[in-house]
Amino acid sequence: VSANQLQLQRRRMNVVVRAQTTASEKKSVTDNRMLVFVPPHPLIKHWVSILRNEDTPCPIFKNAMGELGRLLIYEASRDWLPVVSGEIQSPLGVASVEFIDPREPVTIIPILRAGLALVEHASSILPATKTYHLGISRDEETLQPTIYLNKLPETLPEGSRVLVVDPMLATGGTIIAAINLLKDRGIANNQIKVISAVASPPALQKLSEKYPGLHVYTGTIDPTVNEKGYIIPGLGDAGDRSFGT
Ligand code: URA
Repeated sequence: VSANQLQLQRRRMNVVVRAQTTASEKKSVTDNRMLVFVPPHPLIKHWVSILRNEDTPCPIFKNAMGELGRLLIYEASRDWLPVVSGEIQSPLGVASVEFIDPREPVTIIPILRAGLALVEHASSILPATKTYHLGISRDEETLQPTIYLNKLPETLPEGSRVLVVDPMLATGGTIIAAINLLKDRGIANNQIKVISAVASPPALQKLSEKYPGLHVYTGTIDPTVNEKGYIIPGLGDAGDRSFGT
């Protein structure tokens, strides 16, 4: 699939692909399009390239996934985190300061297994977080998702900011199952940001139809998904490659 064909595929979806948030998008929380961000940073390209290489050994692969997650979460949290401001005494004077508000931790939801690798450095980026794990497996024949572990509480605080972390948005089944659990808990689309290493057009199309206003941050968008539900060219099985299985 050529770059032009890929661009056409994206235009057919109700999806806006951006390198960075524009000023008007920052303001328009009621925007009914889904926004997909592919930050154009050379470090993001670097870590995606390491991940794609079939010769990358397991520990280096896992580290690359963690580094990519750190950069994507940094981008996703720009202009999104609650802050408290005040004045503080430095050794040489009084300074106006801002801290991340510890009373409103970001809710992080890694989808097992591969989400664990992508989220590994999240707590070194975000000072206040709560992490709830979700285990979702995919039937190899039907590609349908099954939730085998759900550590989400019955309710989440109003206004929660939620990061759902799933490295491979392939058919979209897994991420949709995860987001539906958040919808059951009253979380609005524009409170959710999805972090992924590689996304495919079919997954982005489904997400844009079901959850207008959602934001997706991804390292790259690949052209297609094969009949086994793997992204092509992608990087293979992200869970197996992260954990050496
Ligand atoms: N899950 C993976 O690990 N890789 C893919 O390409 C698709 C789903």
